[in-house]
Amino acid sequence: MDTVSQGVARELSLLKGKHFVSSADFTSQQIQSLFNLSTQLKSQQRRIDLGNRVLGLIFSKASTRTRVSFQVAMARLGGQIIDLGVQSTQISRGESLKDTSRVLSRYCDALAIRTHSHQELIDYANWSSIPVINALTDLEHPCQALADFLTLKENFGELKGLTLSYVGDGNNVANSLMICGAILGVNIRIACPLGFEPNSLLIDKARLLASPNSIIEISNDPFEIVKGANAIYTDVWASMGQEKEQQERQMAFEGFTLDKKLFAEADAEAIVLHCLPAHRGEEISDEVMESKSSRIFDQAENRLHVQQALLAALLGGL
Ligand code: CP
Ligand code: NVA
Repeated sequence: MDTVSQGVARELSLLKGKHFVSSADFTSQQIQSLFNLSTQLKSQQRRIDLGNRVLGLIFSKASTRTRVSFQVAMARLGGQIIDLGVQSTQISRGESLKDTSRVLSRYCDALAIRTHSHQELIDYANWSSIPVINALTDLEHPCQALADFLTLKENFGELKGLTLSYVGDGNNVANSLMICGAILGVNIRIACPLGFEPNSLLIDKARLLASPNSIIEISNDPFEIVKGANAIYTDVWASMGQEKEQQERQMAFEGFTLDKKLFAEADAEAIVLHCLPAHRGEEISDEVMESKSSRIFDQAENRLHVQQALLAALLGGL
């Protein structure tokens, strides 16, 4: 079969022209439909040609996976990207965001933005007449969460009722994971050192959006939180922009390393996830990262497939 089902096509057609700034932006059916299309694209059952559309990238932080996966996704869709290095644009000389966003809307078909301030991303979206995609802010990383749950679905089939435990910093990755998981009916258990829990407004939002029976639990005890879980996830202790806090955080996160001893508390069939880049020996041991339970590189690959599906839907190429 080289077409998506009518139901999936209908759900995805609702995404045409939309922004994707938060994991809260899409419904469970829309996310599942994106997974369905991602799987078809991944298995090469389906090809989509968008006809030379252009995605502008505005990245003011480093990136390997997000930048390259968006670039390859656009190439596979018959389009291209323009990498708008912030330093070489007038943004670096203070041109206003509202002018930049309106001008780029006249040239490009979509924008993927990686920046510190989540509000800045929202401002871009408010002034843009083309879809704006969150390629990571200090608050959320929704494209990552899509790839994470696609990986979970590939491993377990049904997502509803699974338990994903996240151990580490309650950061952008944890926030999006929590919201997306709640919408999809996954139980999300998060263990952070005291004071490093996810944003409380986002915890409330996740609970509000949660599918019936999906439980969001926040704790300061990593051993208790990973018990019996189907997947254990971690991320760096100091995110981009927090480099000066590295030493202080290393002390605060003592006991939160995802190592063999902690992983042994999970379900016997549990998988290991990490968004990458990893600091081996800090948030995750080399042994766990290289173990047969690791799906970390499948997860990285899935960034490409799910973003290709996302672009096709936002650009109305179905
Ligand atoms: N996981 C992720 O977003 O990686 P990059 O920072 O390399 O894009
Ligand atoms: N939390 C990390 C994720 C990197 C993909 C950061 O923001 O640096």
